[in-house]
Amino acid sequence: MASPDSRRGRINDGSRVALVTGASGAIGKAIARGIAEHPGYEVVLLCRDETKARHACQEVMQATGNDNVRVELADLARQPSIQAFAGRWQGPLHVLINNAGVTPRRRQETPEGIELQFATNVLGYFWMIQAFTEHLRRSAPARVVNVASYWAGDLDLTDLEFKRRRYTNGEAYRQSKQADRMLTVAFAERLKPYGVSVNACHPGDVHSTLSTNLGFRGSQTPDEAARTPVWLAVSPACHTVTGKYFERMGEVRCPFGENRRAVQELYEICLSFNRLLKKAHLSA
Ligand SMILES: NC(=O)c1ccc[n+]([C@@H]2O[C@H](COP(=O)([O-])OP(=O)(O)OC[C@H]3O[C@@H](n4cnc5c(N)ncnc54)[C@H](OP(=O)(O)O)[C@@H]3O)[C@@H](O)[C@H]2O)c1
Repeated sequence: MASPDSRRGRINDGSRVALVTGASGAIGKAIARGIAEHPGYEVVLLCRDETKARHACQEVMQATGNDNVRVELADLARQPSIQAFAGRWQGPLHVLINNAGVTPRRRQETPEGIELQFATNVLGYFWMIQAFTEHLRRSAPARVVNVASYWAGDLDLTDLEFKRRRYTNGEAYRQSKQADRMLTVAFAERLKPYGVSVNACHPGDVHSTLSTNLGFRGSQTPDEAARTPVWLAVSPACHTVTGKYFERMGEVRCPFGENRRAVQELYEICLSFNRLLKKAHLSA
């Protein structure tokens, strides 16, 4: 899924580059806007729908007066799409914000046969960090912000795709957000030596496609919800912190990240999907 912007190629002029996934959605667009307001930031909106992406890009540019905003396209539930996108990437990457998410009411699978919430909300984050690790390392100090949630829990390492349990989108969603918080710790440890921090946060509760599917109507504005992720992405105060979980711009203890054995096991399961997908690709 190549985008016109990527085909044109980019020359970075020394500004800091931030990539926001799900930037056509409620919170993602507000995050993109919040970062674009900061002087010296180039912001890349990573979306899957070109029309929505173009509208979001226009809105962000108009609201901030920042012309260094552009669009890229990829399907974050599919590893080949992420790898192709990362392969097209030119120049540095200083901030990666993993924010795209879904919560379909009925269980769905990707064309590769992976349950869609796990593929998008968990493996999508995992694959993005993996695919951009070299870019982030070369651009260090660099930051990854994983948009998670306080509404998290009941992760079952033996049934991550709801093959055995009855699927409800709320349970699958809570599990996926727990996994995001656990993988934050796993990647923080691995990337710390290279000057790349990885933190997770709860944004805020807003009305969106995602919240509607979960059956609630958040009362905060997208800008309010973007405050913590934007702060983690750009604030000098967050320069050295890594492997932590935040709400309302404050660190909150995260029990999910403290279970070292489970964190490691989840990381290895995510890695095993790489091997499975590679094998399927080779035998196709
Ligand atoms: N809303 C809340 O109250 C709330 C609370 C806590 C945490 N969060 C977290 O905040 C994040 C954003 O949520 P939101 O409420 O802003 O949701 P949203 O408005 O529904 O936006 C979700 C975004 O993700 C994109 N997306 C979904 N699947 C994708 C895929 N396979 N490839 C590329 N992009 C994909 C969507 O693109 P399309 O527009 O093309 O579908 C959309 O841009 C999520 O991680 C969510 O868990 C939200």
